[in-house]
Amino acid sequence: MALLISYEGADSEVWRQEFSKHLPDMDIRIYPEVGEPDDIEFAAVWMHPIGDLQRYTNLKAIMSFGAGVEHITRDPEFPRHVPIVRLVDGLVVQDMALHVVHWVLHFHRDYHRYLDGQKEASWQKYPLREPARRRVGFLGMGAMGAVAAKMVRNLGFGVSGWGRDPVNLEGVQFFDGDDELQPFLESTDILVNVLPLTAATENLLDERHLAMLPKGASVINISRGAIIVDEDLLAALDSGHLSAAALDTFRVEPLPVDHPFWTHPKVFVTPHVAGINYPHSAASLMADNIKKVVAGECPSPVFDPVRGY
Ligand code: GLV
Repeated sequence: MALLISYEGADSEVWRQEFSKHLPDMDIRIYPEVGEPDDIEFAAVWMHPIGDLQRYTNLKAIMSFGAGVEHITRDPEFPRHVPIVRLVDGLVVQDMALHVVHWVLHFHRDYHRYLDGQKEASWQKYPLREPARRRVGFLGMGAMGAVAAKMVRNLGFGVSGWGRDPVNLEGVQFFDGDDELQPFLESTDILVNVLPLTAATENLLDERHLAMLPKGASVINISRGAIIVDEDLLAALDSGHLSAAALDTFRVEPLPVDHPFWTHPKVFVTPHVAGINYPHSAASLMADNIKKVVAGECPSPVFDPVRGY
């Protein structure tokens, strides 16, 4: 029984060591040193080459190194009969929530404007707004959104969430589905996008939806770049309708060097670092799921092709 590790940009030897602590009998192979393709029963992947997974005819599960799985489903030939197990690690969820808190505070307290002011030695002060009157809206209230929403709520902000399945969180106003997207956006000063990328969410934050945010709103994106229409976001920032955007994920990654986001004065770019896997923790969770599959039990959470995440 072999586990194939294919993790673009990572030190695979570190992952081999971590996996072997939990799966001492597993034959661990690092892509592209695959050996006999029929031996591969598990493939742990991030940005694996398109078209390759279908070669492993004895595959029992595909383990994603991320919560998102579109790096797998973008492959038109990925084996559809094999479960795709997502990685939702509480440590990473916590880090992502902290990233959100950072930018919420930044925009709430106008630090982006003070950074600009310092460049001109300007002693200009901006009035404060009570945190409870600053409305932070989470687009997506799944495993990630709910944790960040609670953290931001606990700091005293007015918090709301939007999603397709009702989520009951004390002190968080929930907006339900397509019909309530407009009132949700209209009542959001700081929008945090935590949605998975699916056919339904791709390009969701376009000109029309961005225009529903109140004037002066800001946007934080920690899920997937393709949910925002880049040109529409830039236009809303340039017109003064939106005041700032903190973007951690992009349609194309790495963000191309000539992309206008890099130099736009109202855009803050981070290189997809809101959450970064901890090998010890991620390998332990993924190994537990591999053991479940071997024992004939259901791994969790598994990608649902109908929901798209
Ligand atoms: C990272 O972006 C993930 O999908 O977890």
